[in-house]
Parts: sequence; structure tokens; C-alpha cells
Amino acid sequence: MTLTLVSEVAALRERIADARRTGGRVGLVPTMGALHLGHAELIERARLDCDTTVVTIFVNPLQFDRADDLQRYPRTLDADVELCDRMGVDLVFAPSPVEMYPTPPDCMVDVGHLADHLCGPFRPGHFQGVATVVMKLFAIAQPDAAYFGEKDAQQLAIIRRMVADLNVPVQIVGVATVREPDGLAMSSRNRHLTPTERQSALALFRALQTADRAISTGITDADAVGRLARETIPRDDASLRLEYLEIVDPDSMQPIEKITGPVRVAGALWVGRTRLIDNVLSEPGG
Ligand code: PAJ
Repeated sequence: MTLTLVSEVAALRERIADARRTGGRVGLVPTMGALHLGHAELIERARLDCDTTVVTIFVNPLQFDRADDLQRYPRTLDADVELCDRMGVDLVFAPSPVEMYPTPPDCMVDVGHLADHLCGPFRPGHFQGVATVVMKLFAIAQPDAAYFGEKDAQQLAIIRRMVADLNVPVQIVGVATVREPDGLAMSSRNRHLTPTERQSALALFRALQTADRAISTGITDADAVGRLARETIPRDDASLRLEYLEIVDPDSMQPIEKITGPVRVAGALWVGRTRLIDNVLSEPGG
């Protein structure tokens, strides 16, 4: 099957119904486009597991808490469709904002304590916007499985909890973070970085690695680990501002005090005007 690009809900539903008639598993990869190798890994996983792979490309206004971020978010639809085609994707759904939200939504998915820490307090309404659009995409495409990156660990935890709490019959598959050779997590927002900022941006992964090493060598006091990690962010680099670096339970996303099992170390770093996030899963003793 060659790739079909659709921009309307009804057209996507028809195409998916056709695909289902011939049987088989439908996999969904929700994205906001500006596709990179991280997205490609999700697509690859879906292709391996499923008979029909659907990629959605939609810069969801509902999840942006800053107008300038929404406005300057990279949009590269032609290149994205080309990549999907090369990767054997069956359907790309790229709706307009009006197609997704004909009227401003009055009913949305309310996210509770999972949004209390990490990005939640810094991005009011963000996770409600994410959960709502993902729920809409699930209702539109009715996939058997959907693929999400661990790069956005809080988002992944929220989506897992949403399908459990609301009995949504979609299998959620988490995919490990894809990094540049030097360790920087791939992100659509990396395109905004100047060459100098691109170098500075590594500070976040370095801080997370410092935390990871401290945890694996047996430091159990999360505060102490956090302090060590934060101290690695160069103070003389004016382009850098650490928004948060927290150590949380990997399922509940709540801060922990004593590290006795696997934890997520997650951070957000401003590099100039660009906000980057990253995280690692860390375990005591290795
Ligand atoms: P976006 O940032 O485009 O990411 C789409 C998917 O790709 C997410 O599941 C994200 O975790 C994953 N991803 C991004 N960078 C990755 C990397 N370096 N390694 C592995 N996976 C990576 O996340 C969103 O869009 C939106 O919030 C969305 C879920 C589409 C809802 O609008």
C-alpha cells in the first residue's frame, strides 16, 4: 500500500475502516510533525507490530501555554510526509485546527496529580491539552496500539493512566529516547538552537548523567543527588536557565526522598529562547 495523506476526520475514518476490513492491527503514532529520528523509531516500532500504521501530524494549539511557542513551532509537512512514505507508513492524518476543533472544546480530559510536578506547574493547561487531543485521536482512529516516547516521560505516564482510568481499549507502547551521538535527546525544538546553543544544550543530559552516576554509586538522598546534578549546569553560560531538575517515582511522577528503587530523573532547561526537556531512568546499584 502506498501512503495516503488525509486532512479530514471522516476521510481518516473511512480509510481505517477499509484497512480493518482486510483484517489486522492498526497502530497510531501521534506527533506534532517536524519529524526526526526519535519519531522514526516510534514509526518503526508501529510498522513492526502492526498491519496498518497511521501517523498523525497536528500542532495542537490546546497544549501550548505560550503563544510564541505555538507560533514558532517548526512546521515541515512536505518533508514529514516524505519520511513517512519512505518508512512505509500507510496513512498520514494532518488536520487543520478547525477540523480538530470546529468549536472551542467545552469538555476536556482533566489530569490530576500526575501533572502536579515536573513540567505541570510550569505549563498550565499543557497536559490537559495533550490528554484531550490524544483522547480525540484515539476516538477518531480507534487504534489497537499507540506509540509514545519516553523522552516525554510525564506525558507517557499520563496517557497510560488516562487509558486505564477511562477504560480506553488502546495498548500504549513506550519507546526509549533516541539521542544524537553526543547524547542530546532528539527534539523538534532542537532546530531552534544556534550552533553555540546546540553545544550548551548538552548541559541537561550531562546533569542527568551526573544524577544517574550518583544514584548507581549508592547515594540514596534524592535532595543530595538533585543538588549534585544542578551544580553541573555552567553558571557562566548566560544562555542557560534550569527550570527544574527533579527525582520522581517513575509511575506516579511524585517526588521521592529516599532512593530505594528505580526513579526518573527529569529536567527542563532553557537554552536561549528554547525550552528543552529530558530524563533518564535510574536505579540504585546500577
Ligand atoms: P511530539 O513532540 O511531536 O512527539 C511525538 C512523539 O514522539 C511523542 O510520543 C514523543 O515522546 C516522541 N519523541 C519525541 N522525541 C523523541 C526522542 N528523542 N526519542 C523517542 N521518542 C521521541 O509529544 C507530542 O508531539 C505531543 O504532545 C502529542 C503526543 C503528539 C500530542 O499532541
